[in-house]
Amino acid sequence: MTTTEMTSTGMTSTGMASAGTPRSLTVGDRRVECAPGQSLLDAFLRAGVWMPNSCNQGTCGTCKLRVLRGEVDHRGSPPDTLTDEERRAGLALACQATPCGDAVVSSPAAGSGDVRGTHALRDLVGTVREVADVARDTRRLLLDLDEPLAFSAGQYVELVVPGSGVRRQYSLANTPEEDTTLELHVRRVPGGVASDAWLFGSVLAGDRVELTGPLGDFSLPDAADDEGEPMVCIAGGTGLAPFVGMVRTALQRTPHREIVLYHGVRAAEDLYDVDRLTELAARHHGFRFVPVLSDEVDGGSGHRTGFPTDAFLDDVASARGWSGWLCGPPAMVEAGVKAFKRRRLAPRQIHREKFTPADALGGEASAA
Ligand code: FES
Repeated sequence: MTTTEMTSTGMTSTGMASAGTPRSLTVGDRRVECAPGQSLLDAFLRAGVWMPNSCNQGTCGTCKLRVLRGEVDHRGSPPDTLTDEERRAGLALACQATPCGDAVVSSPAAGSGDVRGTHALRDLVGTVREVADVARDTRRLLLDLDEPLAFSAGQYVELVVPGSGVRRQYSLANTPEEDTTLELHVRRVPGGVASDAWLFGSVLAGDRVELTGPLGDFSLPDAADDEGEPMVCIAGGTGLAPFVGMVRTALQRTPHREIVLYHGVRAAEDLYDVDRLTELAARHHGFRFVPVLSDEVDGGSGHRTGFPTDAFLDDVASARGWSGWLCGPPAMVEAGVKAFKRRRLAPRQIHREKFTPADALGGEASAA
């Protein structure tokens, strides 16, 4: 995940509030308050009301909802994501729109009227415990929180980069029980304010960091709803991070679950967490970890070569009944969706999380 550059406001990158009378927002059987200038999504998530969301930048369309009563200011909703026709039809991007007065909305979260809860979005402060080089241009950041954070495996947090006010999104590599020390994986992007200047530059143990979370829908279902179906996961680069938390969580729930995790990188020096995941596979015989190197042609390192989506197609004749999970660069995610469909995964069982460039930084990309 990544995000746009914003100043720190105490809300998510899209949820800034200003002084004034709060609005009343209703979805299904839930009513929440929304401050002037606060996004619909921010208001619902902070009240613990689930709304579909992914990028929180107005680019993915996941948070699209229908305004049944009242008016909203669409603010920066891009026409590519929300067309004029959709606006006229009463649709809005919850992560961008703010209510002009009291409003009633419906979304897939409303279902029959009972809106399900979620881990409430919160602002927290953490302290950098450790920053370690784990692969070429890749670091692991451990952050001790002042208070525990409730989240689902695979979700992400938004950090405020110290000294700059810039916000960046990073997936959590934690299981939900690991709720006091967050683990984030960061790939260096030359010139990037977050990765290059801070996490590969000035960062020090003891730095205090503001963050907001949890965010995103790329996560395992709650334990009660988890059917324990076989899973195929394909990660590109630091897109491995959410799977480190998700796979461990899935195996805690169902120790013999069939899971295959492909990790695509360019070369052997880009691999990380190989020992950790190999050891996990030794303890859980249904789990396979498969590193795949795209720049290596001779197989000299002993790893598979090519693209991870092709490795999946080579290995699996049919994935009917499986769930499929993709996290990485957009091209890899799109190739993965096609590969999953070719192997008969049901579309509703395909979950994806794309890296998106931070537009204001000349393309600093996500650390997922
Ligand atoms: S467009 Fe709102 S979450 Fe992506």
